[in-house]
Amino acid sequence: MDYTTILFEKYDNYAIIKLNRPDKLNALNNQLFLELNDLIGKIELDETIKALIITGVGDKAFAAGADISELNKCDRRSGKQFSELGSNVMLRIEQLRIPVIAAVNGFALGGGCELAMCCHIRFASEKAKFGQPEVNLGIIPGYGGTQRLPRLVGKSKAMELIISGNIIDVNEAYRIGLVNQIYNSKELMEKTIEFVNLVLSKGQFAVSAAIEVINNTDNLSLQEGLHIESLKFGEICGTNDFQEGTLAFLEKRKANFQGN
Ligand code: COA
Repeated sequence: MDYTTILFEKYDNYAIIKLNRPDKLNALNNQLFLELNDLIGKIELDETIKALIITGVGDKAFAAGADISELNKCDRRSGKQFSELGSNVMLRIEQLRIPVIAAVNGFALGGGCELAMCCHIRFASEKAKFGQPEVNLGIIPGYGGTQRLPRLVGKSKAMELIISGNIIDVNEAYRIGLVNQIYNSKELMEKTIEFVNLVLSKGQFAVSAAIEVINNTDNLSLQEGLHIESLKFGEICGTNDFQEGTLAFLEKRKANFQGN
């Protein structure tokens, strides 16, 4: 599939997806979701990609939401499909076993905020702005905003943001826990890649397992979550990386993880 709405850059052990509709503030249209879905399928199968960064082309937007010109045409039936298409792609991104980091370089509104939230971590530039302004359009968030925002910032703050449609700056987003780190625009990608390299220097089985357990135990009781954690912990104790990591500590040297 040829990509016209996204750019894909593959490096030695990580990749970058850039949303590429800068003249429309990277609004997420049907084509973009189809391309993203196709690409995520390829990333799932590519063992050389060990981390993923998602960002927006241009200096104004990560993504200013679902494409309102397409949204406007929805009726009751197609509206549900419109929501499910984006939601499924975002769920697929969240379920990747490699670290996925949003580098939010400007507006992350509506679907843009939802896309950032399905990533495992969010770094943002000082220009970034966040919000779920769907109520201004007479609609509700459709790509997970009502689900992931409360989980990230708490029910009360999420409720306030979603029912007011208020847009917040990056400092407020950081204060409420929506953003992990703030960097100036020029440094954002460099710092994000630095973080990726830090994570890639760790035992990759452990990193993937941590992502999987954290992601898949959200809705479970503490006991159920602890059980899944112990199962995964046991599994990891059977890997060479675990042997190497613990032995390296005991031998007072740096671990040389092989990812097996
Ligand atoms: N869907 C479709 N097109 C969008 C868009 C969206 N979500 N957001 C921005 N655009 C388009 C604009 O229509 C405009 O296109 P045009 O030049 O062909 O007219 C272009 O992107 C630039 O946007 P503009 O509104 O002129 O930029 P601005 O700097 O004045 O305002 C925003 C920036 C983000 C405040 C404003 O674009 C906005 O409110 N966008 C919609 C945000 C939203 O409601 N998102 C949730 C959607 S469910």
